Amino acid sequence: MTKRGRPRKDPNAPKQPYNVSTIERARRATQKRIRDQRRKAKKASAKAEHHKHAAKKIESSAKKIQDGLNGTASRVIDESDLTVASESVRDLVEDQEVIFRPNNGPQEEFLSSSEEDVLYGGAAGGGKSFALLVDPLRYCHNPNHRGLLLRRTLDELTELIDKSRQLYTKAFPKAHFREAKSTWVFPSGATMWFTYLDRDKDVTRFQGQAFNWIGIDEITQYPTPYVWDYLRSRLRTTDDELRPNMSMRCTGNPGGVGGWWIKKMYIDPHEFNKPFAATDIESGQQLLYPDGHEKARQPLFYRKFIPARLTDNPYLMQDGRYEAMLRSLPEVERKRLLEGDWDVAEGAAFPEFSKERHVVAPFEIPTNWPRIRAADYGYASPSCVLWGAIDWDDNIWIYRELYVKQHTGEQLADRILEIEQTEPTPQYSVLDSSCWNKTGFGPSIAETMIRLGVRWTPSDRNRLQGKMEVHRRLADNPLTKLPRIRIFNTCSNTIRQLSGIPLSKSNSEDVDTKAEDHAYDALRYLSMCRTSPFTSIHKSLSHIKEQVYKPQDNTFGY
Ligand SMILES: Nc1ncnc2c1ncn2[C@@H]1O[C@H](COP(=O)(O)OP(=O)(O)O)[C@@H](O)[C@H]1O
Ligand SMILES: [Mg+2]
Repeated sequence: MTKRGRPRKDPNAPKQPYNVSTIERARRATQKRIRDQRRKAKKASAKAEHHKHAAKKIESSAKKIQDGLNGTASRVIDESDLTVASESVRDLVEDQEVIFRPNNGPQEEFLSSSEEDVLYGGAAGGGKSFALLVDPLRYCHNPNHRGLLLRRTLDELTELIDKSRQLYTKAFPKAHFREAKSTWVFPSGATMWFTYLDRDKDVTRFQGQAFNWIGIDEITQYPTPYVWDYLRSRLRTTDDELRPNMSMRCTGNPGGVGGWWIKKMYIDPHEFNKPFAATDIESGQQLLYPDGHEKARQPLFYRKFIPARLTDNPYLMQDGRYEAMLRSLPEVERKRLLEGDWDVAEGAAFPEFSKERHVVAPFEIPTNWPRIRAADYGYASPSCVLWGAIDWDDNIWIYRELYVKQHTGEQLADRILEIEQTEPTPQYSVLDSSCWNKTGFGPSIAETMIRLGVRWTPSDRNRLQGKMEVHRRLADNPLTKLPRIRIFNTCSNTIRQLSGIPLSKSNSEDVDTKAEDHAYDALRYLSMCRTSPFTSIHKSLSHIKEQVYKPQDNTFGY
């Protein structure tokens, strides 16, 4: 007995007999067997159906692959054909010459991009032009495919045509190149026009034409976005299968005459390798469908930038000679062609500027570092105000940037006062000296701001000395072995301008004043400052000296 409840069952007690007859038990057992058999039959039939379906798929892939091998394929064989193929079909294909297999990384990403406008740009030899040639082949089975591949000069185009001869006839053995029209014609009727375009005004050759795929190789050779803009208006098709995949595909090395607009269009607006709604390169505003359109206010199309690296192309990396050649180039060229650095512009004024060395993550500025401020004023063009602090080794840290358009002197002063409410007043503040210019009796911009409580002194007018001072500051401080000027990564305009501002074509000692230079000018004024923590201590001591040693009431007895 347990303490509570029912007594435990005796495990040795005889089992209770079934309370049904032997015949009934036999009937039930037979029924269960039948149920089990039925279940098994159902499973087997589903499996057979699945195999039948898979067999059909394999059959069609195998046919496609066989056609490809015989040279009668109506379309290019891609990975999806191989993934459904059985081991034996795979083996068959792998025994054959594979025409093209994308390199892992950027090349693969470029070829699988679905955005309308993609730039694959960066290091030379990354496999960009090769990928551009391959990209349109996926549409060439469609009789309505019209492709256009463009280069700036005829010589460079010839190089591409030669490469296309190797690739295209392998992919579509019955495709042929019509020399007179410089056009590939595929068995389906699809075409790919290879042409060159040197001068902007020649875009009229494309008037009235429509293409569903447009590729521009070495787009940085075009000095302005004019050609790109015009060609995009030619991106049209009436084919429903092709319409969702209409694409502009560009490749290019950094630098070149068009480096500046490419940077604004693809590189500056967004993180690399991530799609973003296309923006206007001048205003930075998103391009949207107009009001009244069914997609009104939605992004017009998406863009993406894919950086190319030489290291991603095993075909050129193997023997290391190409890399060694790129490494031996002068600094600016090396940065562009080997490292794919878009920040070094054509004839860059500050090639020594490096984001790695000169740009830092923000931190709290110690309260005993003197603050300084400088500004370049503009109304239609932007105004730039920079705030800096000077450390005990006399290095300048630019910790804030205000970059605004269409602010009157009064509005700008208000913004500055608001920002400086919670921090020490700058000990040195300098404004573009032309702000003291007066055209009539009214107050100048400098005067307006000073009256409102934002003090300024006029900037040093000597542009060349200012530039030399920026160079000196960008160089290392022998004490710390680090640059004398560092910029918080939040000051994006200053960083962009320092890395991209070109030298003047007429005076190689100065920067090109036609380029956007407001942040650079403010930085130049700021660099000329003589303040340091020691001068400020000196100032405060002299103030104490005045109080202690020159007492008004002669309490010290002299
Ligand atoms: N996926 C690939 N398969 C085979 N060869 C490739 C591939 N990608 C690049 N290559 C080879 O590398 C060479 C250099 O590539 P290319 O496209 O001319 O470089 P880029 O245009 O970036 O300077 C090409 O001529 C080609 O022979
Ligand atoms: Mg190329």
